[in-house]
Amino acid sequence: MKVTVVGAGAVGASCAEYIAIKDFASEVVLLDIKEGYAEGKAMDLMQTASLNGFDTKITGTTGDYSKTAGSDIVVITSGIPRKPGMTREELIGINAGIVKSVSSSLIEHSPNTIIIVVSNPMDTMTYLVHKTTNLPKNKIIGMGGALDSARFKYRLAEALGAPISDVDGMVIGGHSDKGMVPLTRLATRNSVPVSAFIAEDRLEQVAADTKVGGATLTKLLGTSAWYAPGAAVSGLVQAIACDQKKIFPCSTLLEGEYGLNDLCIGVPVVLGKNGIENIVEIDLSDAEKSKMEESAEGVKKTNGLLEF
Ligand code: 2OP
Repeated sequence: MKVTVVGAGAVGASCAEYIAIKDFASEVVLLDIKEGYAEGKAMDLMQTASLNGFDTKITGTTGDYSKTAGSDIVVITSGIPRKPGMTREELIGINAGIVKSVSSSLIEHSPNTIIIVVSNPMDTMTYLVHKTTNLPKNKIIGMGGALDSARFKYRLAEALGAPISDVDGMVIGGHSDKGMVPLTRLATRNSVPVSAFIAEDRLEQVAADTKVGGATLTKLLGTSAWYAPGAAVSGLVQAIACDQKKIFPCSTLLEGEYGLNDLCIGVPVVLGKNGIENIVEIDLSDAEKSKMEESAEGVKKTNGLLEF
């Protein structure tokens, strides 16, 4: 199992670190355009191997895509991150060009790979990767919902005063401050609907805090977050590499599912060795459906800014 991570910034390096620590991949290649940077991060990470007990071999390269040849899974984190006060959509001007050239170079060397897109605005970048690579739809996965759901569970546990392992919940829709749809109605604490423990207005606050989860961290850190994004990606990579058939909300090309067409947006999918093995259609309430439609309109508006 060979995994390439493009972009050795904070998200890419965290991603490589979590993949290595879970010790299921034989090889992780980090690629960056900044001279020596990926090599340095790879060497630093390799020097944690004996301490953290993993055998995954991590190497770095400055822009040499031949080193990524034959990757089973590639992760695209390249591009600029948000600064405080920015929306993810504002990054499109710079990131679209980067994601387009990175994805073309990757599939030149790994034509059968599965691509996980992390760069923002993520749903639109996932759509762009479809248009650029023409890979089958099961092989292009946008990472947003797994991260947003982790942030949702964090906020739920906080409101419930419960351990996170007791809490389950999912966020679908676009990976944007306005577009996320936290499914509060379906969230549970050890199988019991959370509405049995917390009042509706507190639950609405949990949903609101979840939606600005990334923006809250960007304000605190001065740049966008990396630990939870890296951990979320490593979860998706592991589900594919180990054929786990786990359900995560991911951005995928919809062709009629959820009444939506011709866009990538977050919905629950089953992840296994073929990438997205199934799109899971759950019954949404009328309120959830209209939030999903509004979210889709936002994603389509951003997609309209792309030039192919
Ligand atoms: C986030 O929400 C980077 O989009 C990512 O933190």
